[in-house]
Amino acid sequence: MLRTKIAGIGHYVPEKVVTNNDLTRVMDTSDEWIQERTGIKERRYGTKHKETTSTMGTRAAEIAIERAGIQKEDIDFIIFATLSPDYYFPGCGVLLQRELGITKTEIGALDIRNQCSGFVYGLSIADQFIKSGMYKNVLLVGAEMHSMGLEFTTKGRNVTVIFGDGAGAVVLQPTEEEGKGVLTTKLHSDGTYAEKLAFISPGSHGGYHHDKMGLDTDFGFGDEEFGEIFLNHHMIDNNMHYPNMEGQFVFKLAVQKFPEVIMEALTEAGLTPADIDMLVPHQANLRISQFVQKRMGLRDDQVWNNIQKYGNTTAASIPIALCEAWEAGAVKEGDLVCLAAFGSGFTWGSALIRF
Ligand code: UT7
Repeated sequence: MLRTKIAGIGHYVPEKVVTNNDLTRVMDTSDEWIQERTGIKERRYGTKHKETTSTMGTRAAEIAIERAGIQKEDIDFIIFATLSPDYYFPGCGVLLQRELGITKTEIGALDIRNQCSGFVYGLSIADQFIKSGMYKNVLLVGAEMHSMGLEFTTKGRNVTVIFGDGAGAVVLQPTEEEGKGVLTTKLHSDGTYAEKLAFISPGSHGGYHHDKMGLDTDFGFGDEEFGEIFLNHHMIDNNMHYPNMEGQFVFKLAVQKFPEVIMEALTEAGLTPADIDMLVPHQANLRISQFVQKRMGLRDDQVWNNIQKYGNTTAASIPIALCEAWEAGAVKEGDLVCLAAFGSGFTWGSALIRF
């Protein structure tokens, strides 16, 4: 039976370390508050003119490709997950292709917009392509450059302190080795609460969703016959061009959906939480991961957390954490690894992989 295995993995984080105390220079917050509520001590920020979401993804991809023992020209499909693309369009997949120096055009590049669950969604897509025999080397990348789009004021503190920059990548290949590879992936979505964690403007929404939901939000639209709905001065003057989040609402759903979707995958595979060698949850908030660990009855050595060092890197968080766990020898040949994510959309998902 053809399954999908991780043949190579890599990650990249920018050099610049930003501590909680550094953030107190631009907003009313404290190291104590951030650590107590999120577990985060520091995060990395990319540097203008030097790093972007796609270049960080490329650096991670280069490591994954080398570790897979293939050449970049062997890649036949690119999947790029991010919510902070270099450009609104085209997507980061083609920018990564160019940065990697892949000039052959017999290759597809797909961008996916599933925020925190982007990597799990990407893995599921890659898995279908590989199991069907269509592709032999799929490059899956999760990367984020949050620091270029956060609100560095007290108003934006509940969002800004959480997020960090970085990238992770895997090369996925077919395997016929008994019991090895991706055992299952589970994907979910619920658009009911799309605006609870969202980056609304610029966008083409034209106020539609807010009108329909009775949300009294003034986007400052004028009476021009054409244009101006994407981004206007009112939005900029009122700091509406930043992400927003109802933190507690998201938190409550996250702690419910993580265990549900993990159990769903385990049940399908005929396994239990005790069979998990390593759970690599999306690094949303250390308190969420600890809650999930307790709910699943997992020991400390069965869960990988690195949010303390990097903050929440959204689509990059799972591949960065998985890469670090693998590099530390905490994920070895034969181990059962569970990936799980929940985030904006809402979308959530899980994957079980036998290494
Ligand atoms: O990865 C995608 C999914 N995202 C998540 O899973 C995030 C889920 N949510 C969370 O992690 C938490 O809700 C947060 C960390 C975002 C916020 O923690 P919280 O314990 O839920 O705080 P809160 O939003 O209820 O705010 C409590 C208080 C408020 O002050 P008042 O109204 O009680 O006076 C906030 O204004 O904390 C204040 N606050 C802050 N204070 C200092 C909010 N952010 C900060 C801050 N520093 N950075």
